[in-house]
Amino acid sequence: MQIPLTMKLDDEKGELIILDQSMLPNEVKYLRLSGTEEIWEAIQTLRVRGAPAIGIAAAYGAYLAVRNAQPSTMEDAIRIFMEARARLATSRPTAVNLFWALDRMQKRLEKEISQSSVQRLCTALREEADAIRKEDAQVCRCIGEHSLELLERGWGLLTHCNAGVLATSEYGTALAPIYLGQNRGYGFRVFADETRPLLQGARLTAWELMQAGVDVTLICDNMAASIMKKGWVQAVLVGCDRIAANGDTANKIGTLGLAILAAHFGVPFYVHAPRSTIDMNCATGLEIEIEERAAEEITTKWYEKPMAPEGVKAFNPAFDVTDAELITAIVTEKGVARQPYDRSLRAMMK
Ligand code: MRU
Repeated sequence: MQIPLTMKLDDEKGELIILDQSMLPNEVKYLRLSGTEEIWEAIQTLRVRGAPAIGIAAAYGAYLAVRNAQPSTMEDAIRIFMEARARLATSRPTAVNLFWALDRMQKRLEKEISQSSVQRLCTALREEADAIRKEDAQVCRCIGEHSLELLERGWGLLTHCNAGVLATSEYGTALAPIYLGQNRGYGFRVFADETRPLLQGARLTAWELMQAGVDVTLICDNMAASIMKKGWVQAVLVGCDRIAANGDTANKIGTLGLAILAAHFGVPFYVHAPRSTIDMNCATGLEIEIEERAAEEITTKWYEKPMAPEGVKAFNPAFDVTDAELITAIVTEKGVARQPYDRSLRAMMK
C-alpha cells in the first residue's frame, strides 16, 4: 500500500509531523507541529481528523507539551500536562477517542509521578503515546479481519466520509476489510460518498483507495438511494466517532440517511470501530454532543464564488446519530456485535 503515514513523532526535534489532510488530494504536504496550540489548531481545522487519529495526535500533543517545556520540577510538569490536556480536550467534542487517549495519558502520568523524575515521566508519556499509535494499527487490522468475514467476493460496497488509513495510524476501520480484501483478490467495487460539506469521501477516501489500486467510484451523497435501487451495493461500511452503550452511533453527517436507505433496500449496514470508540458512560445517542461547525463550510468553502445568498441562515452539524436498530452489526477488534447491543457491547468491553 502506498498511502503516506498520517503522522509520526520526530522526538529529536520535539515535533509531531502530520500529513495535512486539508490539502489533499492536490498536495501531499507535511506539517511539523511542536506546541499545544498548533496541535489544537490542526485537530480543529481537520488537518488531522478521524476519531482514532485525533486521539493519537492529542496524546502526542500532551507528551510534547511536557517534553518541550523542559520543566525543572514534577509540580511544573504536572501543571503543564494538565493545561495541555484541558486545551486539547476542547478541540472537537464528538469523537470519544480524543478524551479516551487524553485520559489514558493522564493515567500514565498519575502512575509515574510518585516515584519518577521529570525525565522518567517524559519517557513514560512518550511510550504511552507510541503505544496508543501502535495498538491502533493492530486493532484496525483485527477489525478488518472480522469485517472481511461478513463480505463476499465481488460485492459492491458503499462507504461514507473517510474511515481509512488517513483517519487512523494504519489500515483504517471501515476501509480495513477493503484493503485486506484487495490483497486477497476479493474484487470489491467501492462507492465513496463525496460527503458534503467537507468532502472527506471525495478528497480522502477516493484518493487513498486509488493509491492502493482499489476499484472506487465517487458519487454525490444524494445518489446513494439510486445506486442501491440498481442493486449495485451489497453492504454499507462506515466508521464512527462514538458508540453509546445501547448501540446508537455518531458518525459523519449523512450516515443516518444511509442507514435508513440500507434498511429500506435490505442492504446490511456495518459500523466499524475500535473499542476505544465505545462510550459506556453514554447511555444513548441523545447524550452524544454533536459538533456544529461554521456556516461558511456550506455556503462558500470550495467554491470560487459564494454559492448561497449572503447572510443566509445555515445549519452545519458535523455528525448525526444512527439509531441502534438500523445497524446490522458493529465490528470491533474483538469481533462482531449484534443486537441487542446493550448486552453485546457490554460483553465486548469486558
Ligand atoms: O469530521 P471528521 O472528518 O473527523 O469525521 C470523521 C468520521 O466521521 C469518520 O467516519 C470517523 O471518525 C471514523 S474514522 C476511522
